[in-house]
Amino acid sequence: MILLTVNGQARQVDAEPDKPLLWVLREDLNVVGPKFGCGVAACGACTVHIEGQPVRSCAIAVGDVGGKSVITIEGLSGSGGEGGLHAVQRAWIENQVPQCGYCQPGFIMATVALLKVKPKPSDQDIDDALNNICRCGTYSAIRRAVHRAAAILGGAP
Ligand code: FES
Ligand code: FES
Repeated sequence: MILLTVNGQARQVDAEPDKPLLWVLREDLNVVGPKFGCGVAACGACTVHIEGQPVRSCAIAVGDVGGKSVITIEGLSGSGGEGGLHAVQRAWIENQVPQCGYCQPGFIMATVALLKVKPKPSDQDIDDALNNICRCGTYSAIRRAVHRAAAILGGAP
């Protein structure tokens, strides 16, 4: 049995320690926000936060996450003030970022992590930090939404 905290809830998992966290979340815990894209830490669709750091959950074994706190896109709502969606999620909606939507949870989780360390990122900061892959090509809309989220979090109009 492996114990971990997922979105603030203590969870117990009966899984092989080398099973990727992504599959434990999706198959064992029915937490399906993190998506499978490549399985080799290349696309970022599976990004979650572990102890506040963005991590590609396809590339970390659940045995290495025991006792740690995991936050997925499902855990963002209510964490960004006003009891509703996180500011990054609101900025995404305002800018109508998603097309098919498949990659977006990963981009949003990476953006939340970026804005914690760089509250006012430049376009270059965004491009460097968000090296996820979007097959629909939403990159320019994502940049706009990241700037908007930074403004919301900074209290700008
Ligand atoms: S599925 Fe994890 S990085 Fe692509
Ligand atoms: S919105 Fe379709 S892959 Fe990114």
